[in-house]
Amino acid sequence: MLITAGPTWEAIDPVRYIANRSSGKQGFAIAAATAALGAQVTLVAGPVSLKTPKGVDRIDVESAAEMNQAVRAALPADAAIMVAAVADWRPRQYVSEKIKKRGSAPPALMLTENPDILTNLAASEKRPELVIGFAAETEDVIDNAKQKRKRKAADWIIANDVSGDVMGGDDNEVHIVSGDGVESLEQMAKPDVAMALAQRIAQTLSAEAAE
Ligand code: C5P
Repeated sequence: MLITAGPTWEAIDPVRYIANRSSGKQGFAIAAATAALGAQVTLVAGPVSLKTPKGVDRIDVESAAEMNQAVRAALPADAAIMVAAVADWRPRQYVSEKIKKRGSAPPALMLTENPDILTNLAASEKRPELVIGFAAETEDVIDNAKQKRKRKAADWIIANDVSGDVMGGDDNEVHIVSGDGVESLEQMAKPDVAMALAQRIAQTLSAEAAE
């Protein structure tokens, strides 16, 4: 099982970065739950201050480029669950000396696109049998997730509404969007969401193995 979690940090200079908001709690909980069910788990983690779950092999990264590399190096895997809130952009140029404040004019930040780790994985020759992405949305949660599933060629997208206090919070309410339709789970603590997902993943992999 290959799992990404947490944010990525995209350095501007030695003291500044841009990032997406992510505590890493849901991804770490999924690593813990799948390991508890007996999976061999590699967790590629962005910068978070969370303890490594029991039995999980953790690889720490900082940027999206590093996460992309670590994910490729961790293949093959039976399933991949991409929970990380990867920064969509990074500064076009890293400035190796701290940028000085100069009068009233703030520096312009030129951005460039990061690799989409999930899309790359779903298109790779070593594609895991089950590729799962997350979709954090603030509106049209399920519709956006359906489109994202197709666009990224993922098997499932786990959609969650982050317009409330999900970010950094202890609870989550998710919808599992797959080729079979949408299963909505009630609001639960993140470890319970993780166990519900881990059980469905285990069932799906064993059903596929039996075919
Ligand atoms: O496009 P969006 O960021 O909403 O997609 C979210 C899903 O895609 C998550 O599963 C996230 O981990 C993954 N993703 C990725 N690499 C990116 C952007 C998103 O793996 N650069």
